[in-house]
Amino acid sequence: MDYDVLIIGSGAAGLTLALRLPEQLRIAIVSKGPLREGASLYAQGGISAVLDDADSIEAHVADTLSAGAGLSDPETAHMVADRAPACIEWLVNLRVPFSTLEHADGSTTLHLHQEGGHSHRRIVHAADATGAAVETTLEGLARQRSNVVVYEHHIAVDLITARHVDGGENRCYGAYLLDRQKEQVITVAARKTVLATGGASKVYLYTSNPDGATGDGIAMAWRAGCAVANMEFNQFHPTCLYHPDAKTFLISEALRGEGGILCLPDGSRFMHRFDERGELAPRDIVARAIDHEMKRLGADCLYLDISHLDAGFIRNHFPTIHRRCLELGIDITREPIPVVPAAHYTCGGVMVDRHGHTAVGGLYAIGECSYTGLHGANRLASNSLLECLVYGTAAAEHIAGSMHPVHTPSSLPPWDESRVTDSDEQVVVSHNWDELRRFMWDYVGIVRTNKRLERARRRIDLLQREIQEYYGNFRVTPDLLELRNLAMVAELIIRSAQARRESRGLHFTLDYPEQRTAANTTPTVLAPGQTDPVVPAPG
Ligand code: FAD
Ligand code: SIN
Repeated sequence: MDYDVLIIGSGAAGLTLALRLPEQLRIAIVSKGPLREGASLYAQGGISAVLDDADSIEAHVADTLSAGAGLSDPETAHMVADRAPACIEWLVNLRVPFSTLEHADGSTTLHLHQEGGHSHRRIVHAADATGAAVETTLEGLARQRSNVVVYEHHIAVDLITARHVDGGENRCYGAYLLDRQKEQVITVAARKTVLATGGASKVYLYTSNPDGATGDGIAMAWRAGCAVANMEFNQFHPTCLYHPDAKTFLISEALRGEGGILCLPDGSRFMHRFDERGELAPRDIVARAIDHEMKRLGADCLYLDISHLDAGFIRNHFPTIHRRCLELGIDITREPIPVVPAAHYTCGGVMVDRHGHTAVGGLYAIGECSYTGLHGANRLASNSLLECLVYGTAAAEHIAGSMHPVHTPSSLPPWDESRVTDSDEQVVVSHNWDELRRFMWDYVGIVRTNKRLERARRRIDLLQREIQEYYGNFRVTPDLLELRNLAMVAELIIRSAQARRESRGLHFTLDYPEQRTAANTTPTVLAPGQTDPVVPAPG
C-alpha cells in the first residue's frame, strides 16, 4: 500500500483532484462511507461562475469580498472567480447534466439562478440537485481510471508524519486507515497526502450536513502540526426544513433567488426590517434575523413561501424539494414551508497556500476542510463547490509539477494496538457526542456571549480529557474517532470565537456587537503550541 498520491475524501474536491492528476500517478482515494457520500452529493443551489456578458469577474470578486465582511483575501477571491468559467467548462465537457436555457434562435446556454449576496444571475445548476449531478459524474469517471484505487468504508485515523518516523523535518508520509469491515487499522504510504475531508457542521445539534461532516481532516492536520484559521466563522443556513421526519433537509437559497418570501407565523414579511436586500441579504444576516424573530415570538419555526409562483415553474426548477416536501405532506406550490436555520458550512479550516499546500511537507488540504482566504467571515452562496473545483485543480497542477524524489523512510511504523482493549462502555461515546453537539448549539451558535463561550470552554476541556483517556485505553471505532475529531474542532471553534472580540460576518456576540473598523483586518490564526491571538475589541 504505497501510492504517489493519497486523497482522503471523495467529494467534489477529492474527485476533481483525482481526475485532474496525470494518469501515470498511482492514486488512492479514501472515503469513510460509500464513495459518493458527503456534502457534495447533497448540494442543491449550484456553482457560481461569471458566464453572462452583463456580469464580470470584478463583480463576482466584489460580491465575495462583501459577503466575507472584510476578511476575504482579495487575491484568492480573484483567482477563484477568474478560474470559475474554465471549471464549469471542464464539468460540461465531462457531461454533467446542468440545466440549460433554450433561446429563440434554437441555441442553448446554461441556465443561471440568482442567490443571496450575488449582484447578478451566475449560479450554474442542475435543477435543485447540482451536487448529485456533479458528484455522480465525477465518481463514475474516477471508478473507470486504472491508476485509481478506491478505499471505501475506510476512515483515516491520523496522518503519519516525521514524529511517527524519525523526528526530522515535518513531512507527511501517508495515513493510518481503519477498515470498517475488517475492524483493522492499515498503514498507507504516499509521497503526497491530500485532505479533502469536508466540513465540521456535525459539531452542532442541528445541521444541513450529512453524518460524516465531523471535521476529521481539520483535526488530523492540527495534530500533525498545521495552523488553522477563522474557525469561529460557522455558517448557519437560514432555511432548513422544520419537520419531525426530516433530518437535515435543506431548502435551497435559490427559492429565495426566484422570489420566495420569508414570513412570520401570521404570514407577515419581516426581512426588510433587518436589511434593505430583504430575502436576498447574505446568509449571516438572514439566519440572524430568523433566529431573532423565532426567539422574540417563541416560535418553533418561520416560513418560506413560494406558492405565489407558477406551480409548473416550481416543479420544474425545484423537483427534489417539491418531491421531498410532498412526501412529508407539504405541497410547496400551495402552502408555505416551515423552516429553521441550521449549521451548514465551516468557513475556517487548515491554512493552505494558492496550491492547497499546508505548512507540513507533502501535505495538502482542499475543499471545505481548508482555509484559502476565499470566504472570510462569511461564505457567499455557491462559492464552495467552486472552491473545491478550483483548488482541486490547483493542487493537481502543483503535485504534478513536484513529484521529484524526496527522502522517504524505508518503512512506516504499523499501528500499535498492544496496549488497548475493546471498549466495555460504548454509551460514554454516544453520550459525549450528544452533549458536545447540544452545548455547541446553545453556547457557540448564531448568537454568542463571553459567558456562553466560557461555559463551552470549560465543558470542552473536560470532554477532551475524558476522550483522550478513552482513546488511550480502548481499540478505535468510527464513533470514537469522529467524537475525538469533533471535540478537537469544537475546541478550535471556541478558542477562535473567544479570540475575536468584535462582531463580524458569521461571528456575532452580544458583548461586542460592533464590527471593529480597523482597515487592516486579519484572520484568526491558531497554531499548535502557540498562545491564542486576540482581536482587540472595537474602540
Ligand atoms: P465533502 O463533499 O463533504 O466530502 C468529504 C469526503 O471526505 C467524503 O468522501 C467523506 O467520506 C470523506 N472523509 C471525511 N473524513 C474522512 C476520514 N476520516 N477518513 C476517510 N474519509 C473521510 N455549496 C455550493 O457551492 N453550492 C451549493 O449549492 C451547496 N449546497 C449545499 C447543500 C447542502 C445540503 C450542504 C450540506 C452543503 C451545500 N454546499 C453547497 C456546500 C458544499 O456542498 C460543500 O462545501 C462541498 O460539497 C464540500 O466538498 P468537499 O469535497 O470538501 O467535502
Ligand atoms: C443552497 O442551495 O441554498 C446552498 C447553496 C450553498 O450552500 O452555497
